[in-house]
Amino acid sequence: MATALVLDRSDIDRVAAEARRVLAANRRRGISEWDGRRYDFVCPSPTHYPFQWFWDSAFHAIALLHVDPELSKQELRCLMQGAQPDGFIPHMLLWEKGSHAHWLQDEYSIRLAHPFYTATIQPPVVARAVERIFDATRDEAFVREIVPPILRFFRWLRRVRDPDDDGLVAIIQPDESGLDASPKYDTAMGIPSDPPTATLPALRRSMQRLFRAYEGVSPERQPLLDVFLFEDVMMNGIYADGLRALARLCRAVGLPDGDEVERESRRTLAALMTKCWDQERGAFWDLSGVREERVPVLTFTSLFPLILSDLDEGIADRLVRDHLLNEREFWLPFPIPSVAADDPSFDPAWQTATTWRGPTWVNVNWYLYWGLREHGFADVAGELARRTVAMQARGGIREFYDPRTGAGEGATDFGWSCLVLDLIAAERMSP
Ligand code: GLC
Repeated sequence: MATALVLDRSDIDRVAAEARRVLAANRRRGISEWDGRRYDFVCPSPTHYPFQWFWDSAFHAIALLHVDPELSKQELRCLMQGAQPDGFIPHMLLWEKGSHAHWLQDEYSIRLAHPFYTATIQPPVVARAVERIFDATRDEAFVREIVPPILRFFRWLRRVRDPDDDGLVAIIQPDESGLDASPKYDTAMGIPSDPPTATLPALRRSMQRLFRAYEGVSPERQPLLDVFLFEDVMMNGIYADGLRALARLCRAVGLPDGDEVERESRRTLAALMTKCWDQERGAFWDLSGVREERVPVLTFTSLFPLILSDLDEGIADRLVRDHLLNEREFWLPFPIPSVAADDPSFDPAWQTATTWRGPTWVNVNWYLYWGLREHGFADVAGELARRTVAMQARGGIREFYDPRTGAGEGATDFGWSCLVLDLIAAERMSP
């Protein structure tokens, strides 16, 4: 690892103050046209993302622990208004739909299940968020209130999104992992990575093709069409970690489901090992289609099982030493880039004008920070946290960053980049 970065006290304070400002400024409150429901949550970015997103809100809830834990609970209570009787929870709730028609019509490619929510999912970070809220507050009543709809969602994932019953859940369009335009989906989506200007139009066309295929087909049958089916390593890492968190929460408050969800968590990790782990390359690969073809495109996803506390130590060691700390791949001046720097699709300066093709994201750094600590790499974790703060001192609280320069890119005032507050607290950078 390169020499440790020394941070200026004033940089730390400025980044923390900016993060708190964003968490306050992005708050949206009111009564929705949707059944007169009350909403009160933090939107990802007032300029680009004015609605409530599933995994964003879970990250916001964790960042809000450093402002007021009551606001963390509020964030998740608002999110759970999307939970449906069959267990499904949508990835977007369109609270102020009437005021933001432009985004829905011209900018996003989304499928709706209802005028006020989407038909699609996002990674279930929410279980980890509840665990963190419980650790901070010991509020058992909150856990008993919020865990049942989350358990139902995990069961929905197993029932609807694991048709081959191997313990790995599938996404059926790229944005369901939250990694919209990651190059690992290019082959399945028919997207050229060159020239950069071709990527976005091709992605939009492919999304429309998928939407037409799913039209009128029940959620249970959609994965069986096999038009886009990814057993995504990051999604399943978050799923397995969520099941582990739920098991702990259930036991802590006397809910009877602990053993069942822990068994499921182990099954998912075992499947990641037998189906996705490549011993030769020392990396995990996503599986594409019912034929489960491995997709050997090196992105941060390949290292993501590091977040799992029961990952084998020898495997964790290889992920860190062979890849994370490799300066040709992921250990750039402002790590961790979303795509390895030596992959042909690496686009750190955002020339493709689309996401997850090279820049560094703070939610990824946050998850890997805790994974590194879990597996005995506290020094690497500390350095990653310091470089994240340094990056935000240069680039502001942005959606993502150029891993070579720390320049901010994408949306401004981006909610989950406020996870830096958790890194600052964990590293005791602030008094
Ligand atoms: C972008 C990201 C997605 C996120 C959304 C709202 O589409 O790729 O992961 O949930 O913005 O912030």
